[in-house]
Amino acid sequence: MAFSPKTQFIRDLKDKDTVKGPFLVKFSALATGKTGKPYMNLVLMDKTGELEARIWEDAATYAGQAVRDAFVWVEGRCQLYLGRRQIVISRLDVLREDEVDPKDYIAEGTLDVDALYEQVLEYVASMKDPYYRALAEAVLRDDEDIRDRLKRAPAAKSVHHAYKGGMIEHVVSIVGTLDHLATHYGKYLDRDLLFLGGFFHDIGKLWELAYDRVTEYTMEGRLIGHLVMGVELVTKKIRELESQPGRIPGDRFPEEKTLLVKHMILAHHGKLEYGSPKEPHCLEALVVHYIDDLDSKINAIRVFTEQDQTPGRWTGLNRLHERFFFKPDWAQPEVLPTDGEST
Ligand SMILES: [Fe+2]
Ligand SMILES: [Fe+2]
Repeated sequence: MAFSPKTQFIRDLKDKDTVKGPFLVKFSALATGKTGKPYMNLVLMDKTGELEARIWEDAATYAGQAVRDAFVWVEGRCQLYLGRRQIVISRLDVLREDEVDPKDYIAEGTLDVDALYEQVLEYVASMKDPYYRALAEAVLRDDEDIRDRLKRAPAAKSVHHAYKGGMIEHVVSIVGTLDHLATHYGKYLDRDLLFLGGFFHDIGKLWELAYDRVTEYTMEGRLIGHLVMGVELVTKKIRELESQPGRIPGDRFPEEKTLLVKHMILAHHGKLEYGSPKEPHCLEALVVHYIDDLDSKINAIRVFTEQDQTPGRWTGLNRLHERFFFKPDWAQPEVLPTDGEST
């Protein structure tokens, strides 16, 4: 098959549309139906989103081909199932790498990552404590690898901000909110410590996840996890600051500040059963935990509501939250002007 230009994107697919085009396989598994007949369960993606797909006929023959990370040519039909779109595939062929343009398949956020990065640097420059600011500069401004990863990484494998640039969007959104809360609560919250919590709480995800194509956990991610990885990074950067003359006042990073920064990372999941080895033990850690949780839920529900195709005022069932969401005007499909009407 020759080069397969991508003209059909997941965001635009509607009920009863004929599907014919290339996609990236995000997930694939062979399952067994009620009658004992095997079928294939797939998630296809491109830069505009992802969609579940099914192969009902000859599923076993496709099992070895439609594997995760493969580019595939798909023919079939889009249809609504319980309010969600789904592709029923009638034909599938595996494509070679040179038959597609990988850029068409990496999910992107709608915001400008360079502008978001500039915003991060502005927040860093506004920090008052010389130790906390030096640490933020060392991690966010001076480390080329981190800068590059920060602009590319999603904030999560799925659920929230799961697209290129999602991490920096999540960080800027959180730190902006923390800035308001620091003003609101005045002396009871340390703005610089809050900011470090916003910047660093998920920084370990830059290495916990691999995100060159389909987002996956790395070996380090599976075995260590982003909380401990974040603490390790902080330890390393503080040691570097202490060994570079002139980076911090004196030659020692204060012990108490070191411990508080690490606590911000370790406590951000809020509860032991959510993976935090420590529950929040200072107001700043408590605030970062709640704002992180709030920001990820707002993003996840917003994206879910926007992508929902159920006609009318209610979404289909959101399995994570086990409820239907009201669809305000911003989530309604754009109404095209009718003939004769000018815009
Ligand atoms: Fe986290
Ligand atoms: Fe987070």
